[in-house]
Amino acid sequence: MGQKLTKIERMYDTVAKEWAETFSGEHEKKPKDQEILHRFAREIGGRRPVWDFGCGPGNTTKYLKNLGIEISGLDLSEKIVEQARRNCPEVHFQKGNILRLEFQNDSIAAVVAFYAIVHFTKEQVETAFREVFRVLQPGGLFLFTYHIGNEIIHLNEFLGKKVDVDFMFFTTDFIFSCVKDSGFEQIDIIEREPYSGVEYESRRSYVFAGKPVAGKQS
Ligand SMILES: C[S@@+](CC[C@H](N)C(=O)[O-])C[C@H]1O[C@@H](n2cnc3c(N)ncnc32)[C@H](O)[C@@H]1O
Repeated sequence: MGQKLTKIERMYDTVAKEWAETFSGEHEKKPKDQEILHRFAREIGGRRPVWDFGCGPGNTTKYLKNLGIEISGLDLSEKIVEQARRNCPEVHFQKGNILRLEFQNDSIAAVVAFYAIVHFTKEQVETAFREVFRVLQPGGLFLFTYHIGNEIIHLNEFLGKKVDVDFMFFTTDFIFSCVKDSGFEQIDIIEREPYSGVEYESRRSYVFAGKPVAGKQS
């Protein structure tokens, strides 16, 4: 059993304003994020539509928009979505659940999801990857990030607010097999050390994965 989605939603509703203020423009302080997002933009080229799932207050969405990518954002928390709209008024943001996406099969050219799986159990990660695979067009591109490790960090207080939530770390072995089992190919995993003084001191991973042009062979 995972954390109840309502619990995660409530947590982000509670810290939405503080989250938006604290993490505003964070990619500017992280050269590897920038390199990865430029690569994502290059690999997408002119293909559309592009979505940021678990977009938070829209920092990644805005970065990609500024690189010329027509992009939309989706998040579980209505309050976070409000912050994203404020942060990036020219972009369409909507409430939604990665674990039950309301998109047609084969309908999206590319999905980015920075740290969107941080509250998921392993079973929920599998569900999320299957859902992303389902909605991506053949040849579609998926980029996501996670914290590397085995830890589960429980927080009772976050950004000055009372919360009750778990942050999950994942091993790269688990993520690799899970991405592969979902049907993705051309999996490229890039790991890095934390940027000291800039972010939480955990090792980070960026994953590029492609949906095969011919679709998953069963
Ligand atoms: C750690 S934050 C990352 C936000 C943003 N991508 C970033 O990197 O700044 C995780 C985000 O995922 C969202 N989220 C969590 N579970 C979700 C779900 N099932 N569907 C959609 N969004 C979800 C949360 O509301 C939160 O905004």
